[in-house]
This record gives sequence, structure tokens and C-alpha cells, in this order.
Amino acid sequence: MKAMKLYERVERIHNELALLNIDAEAPLTVEQLTPFDNYHYFGTEAVDEAIVTLGLKPGMRVLDIGSGIGGPARYIAERSRAHVTALELQPDLDMLAADLTRRCGLADLVEHRCGDILDGLDETYDAIVSFLCFLHVADRPRLLATCRAVLVAGGALYIEDYARRRELTAAEAAALEVKVQCPSLPSAAQYEAQLRTAGFVDIQVEDVTEQWTGFTAGRLEEFLPGGTATSRCTGSTSLTVSTTSTPPSPGCSQLV
Ligand SMILES: C[S@@+](CC[C@H](N)C(=O)[O-])C[C@H]1O[C@@H](n2cnc3c(N)ncnc32)[C@H](O)[C@@H]1O
Repeated sequence: MKAMKLYERVERIHNELALLNIDAEAPLTVEQLTPFDNYHYFGTEAVDEAIVTLGLKPGMRVLDIGSGIGGPARYIAERSRAHVTALELQPDLDMLAADLTRRCGLADLVEHRCGDILDGLDETYDAIVSFLCFLHVADRPRLLATCRAVLVAGGALYIEDYARRRELTAAEAAALEVKVQCPSLPSAAQYEAQLRTAGFVDIQVEDVTEQWTGFTAGRLEEFLPGGTATSRCTGSTSLTVSTTSTPPSPGCSQLV
């Protein structure tokens, strides 16, 4: 199993639940967890947008790539009653995610799998979501080809991700690679071209840099000394893409 050196401090969620006087084995609700279990910008607000954009409904099969500790997957399952396969690279996050899902009583709707998306999957899905994961994957063409391969005809892909707005300095690129584990960053135009090459069509792109910048500034305040998150937590540029596929080749995409 390949490893990452990010999102290692999984105990944060236990600290947060302990502060709410919730025992380690007590049943949980999705609502209790959502303030802490979504590792992306705008939490469930962003997931709601994916649910609406993709038209997720009961019985649909959804793949969540890079599912972290399962926040988006559980929220999608609870809200839409779709079946979600939550694929996460890091074993400790995957194990914690499965435990939280069990405690939420959602194990029949959310299946957790530990693995690398680049290794592919045997099943196909009606829709794929991915929140802030693709930036970590160096081989973007292979990643998008894998997404295309596991989507049914007419299926859709919704991605929230980073994109490059200008040339980066060497220092910026190095910081992205080392601190964010983002080995390379396409521009939105390059991203769109890569999606088309992988067979996606109807690509929609939304640049959310302004909103994400404000969100990040607010988070920074929380984590600075004296901020509300510093005592309890351990704890760019941006776009979102969603895509649909028509028979075996074309798909359509929306980059938000
Ligand atoms: C910023 S976190 C987002 C987690 C989750 N999507 C969320 O929004 O709460 C990115 C996650 O992608 C996972 N990841 C990175 N590369 C991956 C890969 N090749 N296959 C599966 N998961 C991967 C990381 O381990 C990490 O948990």
C-alpha cells in the first residue's frame, strides 16, 4: 500500500467527540460528525452541491475517491440514500471511517475500501465524486482514464480540486509538492483537455478561488494561537469538476 504523509492525525475526531461527552463506542449521527469529518472546503455545503449536480437518488451507486474518514460518503448516503463505495488510500483513515459509519448505522449504504484509485476497481458506478483528492495523484491521465473505465454509460464525475492560475515559482511548486503532497498542477484548460482525452464530454468548470480563499482565511484564524480550533485539533487556487459519460467513450464534465 502506498503511503501519504498527510491527514495523519486522525485522533482529532475522537477529541472533538470527547468534548461533546460522546463515549468512544456510542452510536453517532451524521449531523454530530459533519463539523469534523469533511476534509475539504465548505464541508456539507459542497457535498450538497455534488448531490444536486449529479442528481443522486436512492439505489444509485456512487464512488467517492479519496474518501478520508468518510464524511462526504456518509452524508451522501444519508441524504440521497444512494449506495456509496468510499475508497481511501490510507489504512488508518479507512479503518476509522468504517468504524464511524458503523456507529452511524450506515454500514448497509456505505462500503469502505482501502486502496489506490490508480489500481482500478472491478465494479462500475453511476456517479463518481471526489473532494480534494486528485491534486495528490501525479498520473492524472491514468487517474481520469480509471474514472472513465469505472463509470457506466451516461455516468457523471464531480471533482473539487486545485488548478494552476499562473506559472508557479520553483519555491511555490516545491512547497506544493512537499507540504501539500501535490506533485503537479494543471491549469483549468489543461485539466479540461485531460478530461476530454479520457473520454469525458459536457465539461463544466467553475472557478471557486474567491470563495475558497475566504474559507481558508477563516480557518487560519481558527488555528492561530487563541483561535477556537488550536486547543483541540491536530489537525490556492481551486476548482471543481463534474463529468458524465455517454456510451463507452465520451463523458461529460463540469469543472466547478
Ligand atoms: C483532503 S483529503 C479529502 C478527504 C475527503 N474527500 C473529504 O473531503 O473529507 C484527500 C484524501 O485523498 C486520499 N488519497 C490520495 N491519493 C489517493 C489515491 N491515489 N487513491 C485513493 N485515495 C487517495 C488521501 O489519503 C486523503 O485521505
